[in-house]
Amino acid sequence: MSRLTVIGAGYVGLVTVACMAELGHDVIAMDLDAEKVGLLREGGVPIYEPGLAELIAANRERIEFTSDPGHAYRAGEFTFVCVDTPPTYSGDADLSRIWQAVDNLPSDEGEHILVTKSTVPVGTGALVQAELARRRYRHISYASNPEFLREGTAIADFMHADRVVVGANDPETASRVGRLYQGVDCPVLSTDVASAEMIKYASNAFLATKISFINEIANVCEATGADVTVVAQGMGMDHRIGPHFLQAGIGYGGSCFPKDVSALKQIAGNSGYHFQLLNAVIEVNELQKRRVIGKLKRHLGDELRGKRIALLGLSFKPNTDDIRQASSIVLAGRLLAEGADVVGYDPIAMENMRALLPTMTYASSGLAALQGADACVLVTEWAEFSTLDWEQAKRSMARPILIDGRNALDGAVLTGIGFTYEGVGTRVKLG
Ligand code: UDX
Repeated sequence: MSRLTVIGAGYVGLVTVACMAELGHDVIAMDLDAEKVGLLREGGVPIYEPGLAELIAANRERIEFTSDPGHAYRAGEFTFVCVDTPPTYSGDADLSRIWQAVDNLPSDEGEHILVTKSTVPVGTGALVQAELARRRYRHISYASNPEFLREGTAIADFMHADRVVVGANDPETASRVGRLYQGVDCPVLSTDVASAEMIKYASNAFLATKISFINEIANVCEATGADVTVVAQGMGMDHRIGPHFLQAGIGYGGSCFPKDVSALKQIAGNSGYHFQLLNAVIEVNELQKRRVIGKLKRHLGDELRGKRIALLGLSFKPNTDDIRQASSIVLAGRLLAEGADVVGYDPIAMENMRALLPTMTYASSGLAALQGADACVLVTEWAEFSTLDWEQAKRSMARPILIDGRNALDGAVLTGIGFTYEGVGTRVKLG
């Protein structure tokens, strides 16, 4: 078993800490935010991720939390860099925290492997290695080990990964990093550093492309009378296509897809290549979020001023309180700009949304949001909306108009109750 230092107690960092400890390693988690470290020491977890608090607690004797870089960087045989690389105004990634990690590396200690888990532009690993060479840090070798964790299922994604990718220039470094994952039953793919970096971007961009593709098919289905859920099912039965990430809806969001698709476009552009396909993927996604407005107008008339619109679900997907790039933000913003009275409800993302959009009204439950509403848009497919008492909801709404932005509800049942139900690319039922 090894001794690991994990830099950055954010989303990726904490999942890495908990799972590496679960695999039997001793882990030091370092974050400069002393308040966050204090909370973690007391058993708190600063983010919402199912199972994370429990996994940290179960492995607490193998985990140390610290805000002291001097101690942290000297303690591990491996330093995993899990810091944020947010997009800058130009669309490039801000790598200042990666360079800060390089600056903090001990100049004079024994053999050490620096492992980048943060998503960084292709070529960053080469720059870091050049900098290590310039500093004559021969005791430090380098690996890229991208993460493929989905929010809400990150622990399972780590422990039951499809693959572990390790990019390193020497085989010994690659195999030492790969061995850390013993206990995770999946292939370890050894690559060069640049290819490992690219695998992360290409995977996310491909998944985003799949979503934009099926969303365009959905839009054509709406115009032609086909049903996208059946179309996706039929497509997915072809093993070359696969059934996953073919759920049509009102666009993808989150901290990864929008950022990584833009970053890949930028990386290509910076190296002189115009990545045309990604432009379309981005544009389709932006338009998809706004299509709901057109649907509402078809049912309520062009004048949305004063109309009460309920938004069910505000997070970018279920089981997370993360609202980054969520479709709800664009939708709520557009509706507020049209003068509508927008009421939102989410099981756990409401505080985050309130901080961003204080002018929206917030309801204490799904049913409360629907009270007196002229229309309802299901934005995020939280399980509780499937089991909502829709008969009671219909009685309390001013007009029973329901736009299901995730095709999560049973349109036939709801139409039977008396709703005017419309999904995304499903057969349109005008009540
Ligand atoms: C994603 C990647 O899946 C993960 O591998 C990567 O490391 C981080 O980014 P995440 O953003 O947590 O994970 O969520 P994901 O489940 O992939 O969903 C992203 C967005 O796509 C959500 O808004 C979701 O609603 C949307 N989506 C997903 C669809 O609209 N249709 C689908 O079929 C799947």
